[in-house]
Amino acid sequence: MASTATRIGKVELASFVFNAIGPKDVTLDELRVIGKSSAAAIATKSCTPLPRDGNEEPRYRDLELGSINSMGLPNLGVDAYVELSHTIKEEFPDKPLIVGAAGIGFEDFPVVVEKLQKSAADMLEVNLSCPNVKGKPQIAYDFASMDKTLKTVMSIGDKPIGVKLPPYFDFVHFEQAAEVLSKYDLEFLCCVNSIGNALVIDPETEAPVIRPKGGFGGLGGKYLKPTALANVRKFYELLGDRFAIIGVGGVYTGSDAFEFLLAGASAVQVGTVFMQEGPKCFERIDKELAEILKRKKYASVEDAKGKLKML
Ligand code: SIN
Repeated sequence: MASTATRIGKVELASFVFNAIGPKDVTLDELRVIGKSSAAAIATKSCTPLPRDGNEEPRYRDLELGSINSMGLPNLGVDAYVELSHTIKEEFPDKPLIVGAAGIGFEDFPVVVEKLQKSAADMLEVNLSCPNVKGKPQIAYDFASMDKTLKTVMSIGDKPIGVKLPPYFDFVHFEQAAEVLSKYDLEFLCCVNSIGNALVIDPETEAPVIRPKGGFGGLGGKYLKPTALANVRKFYELLGDRFAIIGVGGVYTGSDAFEFLLAGASAVQVGTVFMQEGPKCFERIDKELAEILKRKKYASVEDAKGKLKML
């Protein structure tokens, strides 16, 4: 079996697949489940300065080809994640720990990132792309705002920092985003968050399937994969020599993970399939990837990374 060991910046991972920041990663117990699984790393929910209940229920729905959610960043608050990071690191010392950082407003980001400098996290993933906070835009769709946020958080402490980006759809926007991102010494780009503000309607009830924001929410799973692949590929072309890229969006199988690897991803995160299948998905997907690498005679993930062939 080929090895799926990889690295994100300076951090080494024993395998290629771990959890996307979002589902089932809020509490210590949920994080222990990920720790005990074959996930390559443990990633926590994006935290805010104070605990949040998030949006009203129902706020998540499985769909035929994925999911829609409007969770609204439910989390225990940054102080709790600083504390539990030490417990997680003691219990799972060999697994890299990535703590998610978010803000409701701009001023929250430095507060959270400053506090997380005292955590046991190996890396921070700064969420610039939550589509589900009522009345707040996705920061990374406003390049001046993204620049201001990065300038602030990148000046605090020396934990390696990566960013969770929203999906972009236009080459001009990829280039504008890349221009801002390239100013900073980031450890990784995580591409992508869900496709924001999708609407799924149940024709029987004649209502949306989730309640918050009038039913508008983030679309994940198979609906997202081609867009996520395009984002990984475009940022790999623009910034692949500077930053590791983590692919997320519609990874259900080793074949999906292999496609992200060909596009240029250094690792993949799984969200919807983790919700639907539970923690055994990490080992299954990673094994399937290892079999594909072996069959195709790639000695390692590094050997296949970015090797998308052109027609
Ligand atoms: C949420 O609304 O909490 C999920 C999306 C995100 O984490 O950005």
